[in-house]
Amino acid sequence: MFDTSIIELSTSALQYNLKFIKKKLKPGVRYCSVVKGNAYGHGVSQFVQMAMGEGIDYFALYSAEEAFLLKKQLYNIPELFIMGAIENEAVEWVIKNNIEFSVFDFERLETALDYSKKLNTKAKIHLEIETGMRRTGFSYTEFPKLFKWFRKNGEYITLQGIFTHFAGAESRANHFRVSNQINNFDLTLKMFQEEGLRSVYQHSTCSAALLNYPETQKNMVRIGILQYGYWPNKETHVRCTGEKDNLPVMLKRMIRWTSKVMAIKEVNKGCFIGYGTAYLANKNTKLAVIPVGYSHGFSRNLSNVGSVLINGKIAQVVGTVNMNSLSVDVTGIEDIKKGDEVVLIGKQNGKTITVSSFSEQSNQLNYELLTRLNINIPRIVSK
Ligand SMILES: Cc1ncc(COP(=O)(O)O)c(C=O)c1O
Repeated sequence: MFDTSIIELSTSALQYNLKFIKKKLKPGVRYCSVVKGNAYGHGVSQFVQMAMGEGIDYFALYSAEEAFLLKKQLYNIPELFIMGAIENEAVEWVIKNNIEFSVFDFERLETALDYSKKLNTKAKIHLEIETGMRRTGFSYTEFPKLFKWFRKNGEYITLQGIFTHFAGAESRANHFRVSNQINNFDLTLKMFQEEGLRSVYQHSTCSAALLNYPETQKNMVRIGILQYGYWPNKETHVRCTGEKDNLPVMLKRMIRWTSKVMAIKEVNKGCFIGYGTAYLANKNTKLAVIPVGYSHGFSRNLSNVGSVLINGKIAQVVGTVNMNSLSVDVTGIEDIKKGDEVVLIGKQNGKTITVSSFSEQSNQLNYELLTRLNINIPRIVSK
C-alpha cells in the first residue's frame, strides 16, 4: 500500500441513515440522493454504488463535469440530475446521455431547445424558481414570458421538474425568510397549474427542510448530508433530539478515516515543536508524527486544537498542521509504536472523533470539512 491514509465507508451506517430518512418521507415521494462535491467527500463512485445497492436510483450532482466523471466510473448508470452549472458546450452531451438538468434563465432554455431540436431528443429540464434564495432561478416577473415560451416550444422539451432551494432551513433565525419561500413556491406551482404547465416532479426539500419543514415535501426530495450521517447543523440536531440523552442514535457516520504512526520523537520541556513558535513544550513530551496534513483535508485550523485517536486514547495536535503531516502529543500513551493505527475521524476502542467535533474546533461546517477530504485518498467500502 502506498497511501498514507484510507477512508472506510460503512454500508450498515448508510442503511441505518436511509431508514431514518425514509421514515420521514410521505408515501410516493421520489428520493433523489445529493452526491455533489464528490458525495460530500465520501467518494462519489463508491457512494453511488453503495446507494444503488440499497435501492436508490436517482442522484443529483452540481455540474456537467461531475456527471461526466461519474459516468466514466460507473458501468450501470442511474438517473442523474445536474442542479447547477453546465457550460453551453456541454448541453449537447447532457441531453444525449439522458441526464436531467436545471434551467434557471432564458439563455439555458434556448440552448436546451436548440439541442433538443438538433438531436431530435427532448431535453429533460427542471425549472429553478427564485423564491427568496437570491442565487439563481426564474422570478415572477419572468413568468409571463416563460409561459409564452412554453406555449410556443413546450412540445420539444420534457418539463421534468419545477424546484426551488431554501436559504437556510436549518436555522430558526431564517424562519421568516424560509416561510416566505415556502409560500412563494406554493404560489408558483399554482400559477403553473393554472397555466396548464405540469412537471413530472415538484421539489424543494433538502435535509434541514425534511426535519424542520416536513410539509414542504411535494413528490420529490433532494437529500444530501443526512444520508452520510450528519445533522445539517447543531440547532437541528438539538431540535430533533431535545434534552433527552437516552434516545437511540438517529444517524450513523459512514466515514472512518485512518492513518498510521510514521515516527515517534521525544522533545524536552521548553522546546518549540514544528514550524515557528506555534507550540512550546511545557513538559518533556513524546510526539507521534502522522503522515496526513492539510493537503489531505486535515484543516490547518486544527493546529494546536484538533485531536486523533491512537491505541484508544485521545492525542492532541501540537504545533501547526503541515501540508503533509501533523504531530500529536502521545506522552501518556504507553506501548505506542511506528505503524500503530491513527483514527482521524471515526471510532477506536469505544472512543470517537467526529467531523462535528472537528468543525466546532475550527469553525468549519461538516459540509466544508467533508468535501475537503482529498479525492485521492482511497475509499474502501466496508460492511
Ligand atoms: C440545490 C440543492 N438541493 C439540495 C441540497 C442538499 O442539501 P443537504 O445536504 O442539506 O440535504 C443542496 C446542498 O447544498 C443543494 O444545493
